[in-house]
Amino acid sequence: MSTTAISFIIIIFLVHHVRSESVLASSPEQPHRTAFHFQPPKNWMNDPNGPMYYNGVYHLFYQENPFGPLFSNQMYWGHSVSLDLINWTPLELAIAPTQPFDINSCWSGSATILPGNKPVILYTGIDSEYRQVQNLVVPKNLSDPYLREWVKYTGNPIINLPEGIQPYDFRDPTTAWLAEDGKWRIIVGSQKDKKGIALLYQSEDFVNWSKHESPLHEVVGTGIWECPDFFPVSVDSTNGVDTSVKENYAANARVKHVLKVGLFDYHKDYYLIGNYSPEKENYVPQNELTLGTLRYDYGKYYASKSFFDPVKNRRILMAWVNESDSVEDDIAKGWSGLQAFPRSIWLDQNQKQLVQWPIEEIEMLHENEASFQNENLEDGSLHEILGITAWQVDVTISFKLSNLEEAEKLNPSGIDPQLICSKMDASKKGKFGPFGLLALASHDLTEQTAVFFRVFQNNGQYVVLMCSDQSRSSKRNGLDKTTYGAFADIDPQQDEISLRTLIDQSIIESFGGGGKTCITSRVYPTLAIGDDARLFAFNNGTQSVVISELRAWSVKKARINVEETIGYTDQ
Ligand code: FRU
Repeated sequence: MSTTAISFIIIIFLVHHVRSESVLASSPEQPHRTAFHFQPPKNWMNDPNGPMYYNGVYHLFYQENPFGPLFSNQMYWGHSVSLDLINWTPLELAIAPTQPFDINSCWSGSATILPGNKPVILYTGIDSEYRQVQNLVVPKNLSDPYLREWVKYTGNPIINLPEGIQPYDFRDPTTAWLAEDGKWRIIVGSQKDKKGIALLYQSEDFVNWSKHESPLHEVVGTGIWECPDFFPVSVDSTNGVDTSVKENYAANARVKHVLKVGLFDYHKDYYLIGNYSPEKENYVPQNELTLGTLRYDYGKYYASKSFFDPVKNRRILMAWVNESDSVEDDIAKGWSGLQAFPRSIWLDQNQKQLVQWPIEEIEMLHENEASFQNENLEDGSLHEILGITAWQVDVTISFKLSNLEEAEKLNPSGIDPQLICSKMDASKKGKFGPFGLLALASHDLTEQTAVFFRVFQNNGQYVVLMCSDQSRSSKRNGLDKTTYGAFADIDPQQDEISLRTLIDQSIIESFGGGGKTCITSRVYPTLAIGDDARLFAFNNGTQSVVISELRAWSVKKARINVEETIGYTDQ
């Protein structure tokens, strides 16, 4: 073939490629693609896998079906890299189902940086007999700054299905931790007769693993535990803690340990806070794993995974946020699944719960600040927030309440907060509340997602309820419009009630009380799209509330998985 013919073919390829990229970017045909949330150019994505920082580069791998917008029985590891956790460059697939030990899928797993700065990954393979087994991959070339190629260890699987466990109930190895005895540990999610189990394995060389006689933790009736995560949190600082530092496991360590598990039966991530002793090899949580216990997020947020970022000494949390539309919609869109905006995560001062907050790098994308202070919002008020792009925004608002003795009574014990939020949606007047934000609202307000609070009293204490009401989020039918809700650990006598919300076309991530209670939702407006979307502060309670401060920024589009060079200069 002549060189002219070859160039012609290349041009045709590029034109086609660029065209298909632009059709999939947020556009009139694709109004629900996001601007600053991680998503691949197209196709299906679910769990974040193996997030890590290595030699100046952040890596995010993810569960991907590279051939279409639906989950598949042939899952791969997608791979993107970033210098700032905001802009991401897509790379080649990192792990593909090619060998007897993973031929039927390469499922979720985690990265560990071994001594000598050597990253390795453990992942679940579905083998030729449809058993779940654990495999090891290592980078082909450590001097490649992007670690593009990964090589499967020839001795895979390194951990076989244990006896007494069903072949499809053994998955998602964690980042390993090294205790003072020189042994690595990991946990793997499992179940036996609906008892959720974190199976514990130990190894001295990362290749030969043996199952410890007792699991790290187990809870009857919770079903299989997916994507477990186990990590230390500092009791006296918001800094993150490296998973493997030996001091974390000493008797007087200034840390507690978080065990997070994804309950497959409920599609929700729950967590426990407790004390871990590697000598006794036991974990004693201070809260119980029940359906009413602590969750990272009370909306859509699943299969999360954290990693320690040594650059800023913080722990960062990534998670999959799935779609709320139908399979047909996903086929029409050509894609499905987002990653939540990366969050810093630390232990609250009261040591009873975690706090999450969007990573500060979001400020790189801020422009056009709008702000005001001390604005009284009377019953029925709507205050439009102007001067920002309401469909791509980062907004923080805090409310000051007085005359709290007027609050309605509610005894929260045994009550499902989500149920109250859906019964008492944003249209139902109360005394203190509903007040909050109306996100992605259409001009005529027929479309809107209300993120709001209600305040009650109970025996001299106050109860703050936080809700995200999707019931009017779209004119379309056939969407999951579940209203979410949770109690927020805020004392309105001491503190203002604050809300930070990230809005990005079809995702709304809200952080109540400085990140103590988080709710993420997916919405697909038909009218409140692009510059037809509006943002309001509102109060629909009979008591007036004061907005002590509002600050909002337009959020610029990040360069996410657009094929280009990363801007990394080889020194
Ligand atoms: C969680 C999960 C994991 C599994 C992966 C498969 O969403 O089911 O347990 O490894 O997704 O894609």
